[in-house]
Formats: sequence, structure tokens, C-alpha cells
Amino acid sequence: MVPAFSLNGVIVEFNNQPVLDIGELVFDDRIIHAVIGPSGAGKSTLLRVLNMLQKPTQGSVTYFGNPLPYNGANSLAARRSMSMVFQTPAMFSGNVYDNVALGLRLRDVKTKEVRAKVFQALETVGLTDLTKRSAATLSGGEAQRIALARALVVNPRVLLLDEPTANLDPGNVTIIEDVIKRIPHETGITIIIVTHNLYQAKRLSQQAVFLNKGKIVESSSTDEIFNNPKAQETKLFVSGEMVY
Ligand SMILES: Nc1ncnc2c1ncn2[C@@H]1O[C@H](COP(=O)(O)OP(=O)(O)OP(=O)(O)O)[C@@H](O)[C@H]1O
Ligand SMILES: [Mg+2]
Repeated sequence: MVPAFSLNGVIVEFNNQPVLDIGELVFDDRIIHAVIGPSGAGKSTLLRVLNMLQKPTQGSVTYFGNPLPYNGANSLAARRSMSMVFQTPAMFSGNVYDNVALGLRLRDVKTKEVRAKVFQALETVGLTDLTKRSAATLSGGEAQRIALARALVVNPRVLLLDEPTANLDPGNVTIIEDVIKRIPHETGITIIIVTHNLYQAKRLSQQAVFLNKGKIVESSSTDEIFNNPKAQETKLFVSGEMVY
């Protein structure tokens, strides 16, 4: 199977300082990948490279076998095939319905179909009763769930999640994790989730990448990373002994 993403020699520099320097990294299609690592490791930067918000200073990225188009005519199609939930999800003005419908309206989907899809997405995250609520009034947990509905409603080929449950109570964490767990089975998409929560990475992912100081320390099956880590740094990190 062609991988969703394949990175080769990707370097991202800010002010001439490398914050991401990864040799080779492959994200296989149709599974859940976790990206773990301490604060400042470059996890969000990696997701921004994948969704074309950040062009690498050097190196190349392929997306389902073709060069990832950071600009030009093909970039819109690639962009529209991905959804991202950001570390701090921004709600747009208007009500919840409009927030979830946005991506479909941008794609000129017919009103009736928009309605059906928005309700289905809200049903998935268990918030159909909030359609008319002003998005600005949502609680943190509700906003995260709406952000997930907004990402899912366009039926993306790739879903990128940056700390989708940070700062949430256990009830909302479980709801969001259950939604994430169900997605690949239902639609066969590739999910990449950045998380500080190691238990969450274990619960959700099949493959895991451990990043530290912008570099890949270890990339393997989630089972190997947590139960049989090769690198000393990984051992310390997954056992909670790495102080950061
Ligand atoms: N636009 C930018 N300009 C300068 N430095 C940046 C920029 N974006 C990120 N950085 C730096 O790059 C490094 C990696 O940042 P990144 O946000 O990718 O880390 P992270 O692993 O997501 O951390 P966290 O777990 O805290 O979210 C950090 O040192 C950060 O300060
Ligand atoms: Mg981050």
C-alpha cells in the first residue's frame, strides 16, 4: 500500500536554528499513528509540515506517492483532503451548525447534503443538541468535540490531531477517544495524533514515533515503543523518568 506520507531529509529551521531534523519517516495509510515527545520536540511543527502550513527548509515529503504541493494548483486539492484539529481549536463566529458546515460550504456542497452531513458529524461526537448555540459560548470539552466534528464532516483522507484532548476532563477524553477509535474502521482514513498522554497513545495507535529535540529517537509499532523500546531515551520517556 502506498503510504499516506513519506518524509525524506526534512529539516525545518527558524532563525537558522533547526527545530525539526528527520531523516526518513513513513506514515502508513489507514492506521492510527501517535507522535509523542516532550514539549518543544517539534511535534506540532511536524504536523504543520504535513498539512502544508510549514514548508520544510530542506528535504521532501510525498503524499500518497506524489510530492506534497506546498503551493501551486495542486495544493488546494491536497489541502482539502486533509483535516486538522489544532492544539487550541479556534471556533469561528456564528453558531455550532455554521462552524461544522464551513468546510462543506467551501466545497460547494448542496444545502440539503450539508444539513445531513453536519447532523451526522454532530451525532458522532454526541452534540446534536448544540446546533444553534453560539460557538463562542462552548465549554472547552464541547469546543474540542465540535472541532473534531468540523474535521470529520468533510470525510478527509487524512486526519491530523494536535493534542485533541489536552486539558479535558476524563468524560470528554473518553468520548473523543471513542470517536477516534471508530473512524478508521468506518471510513479507512489515516490518523496522526500528537499527544502528551502516553496512555492515550497506547490506547489509540498502532504505530508510534518518539521525537526529541527535533529528531526521531525511535519509530516503530506502538507495542514495541512501549513494551520493548530500543533506545535508552525512549525507555526513560515511556517509563516517565525523562524529566522535561
Ligand atoms: N514560528 C516559529 N518561530 C520560531 N520558533 C518556533 C516557531 N514554531 C515553533 N518554534 C520552536 O520550535 C520548537 C518546536 O516547537 P513545536 O511547537 O513543534 O513543539 P511541540 O513538540 O509541539 O511542543 P508542545 O508539546 O509544547 O506543543 C520549539 O522550540 C518552538 O519554540
Ligand atoms: Mg505542540
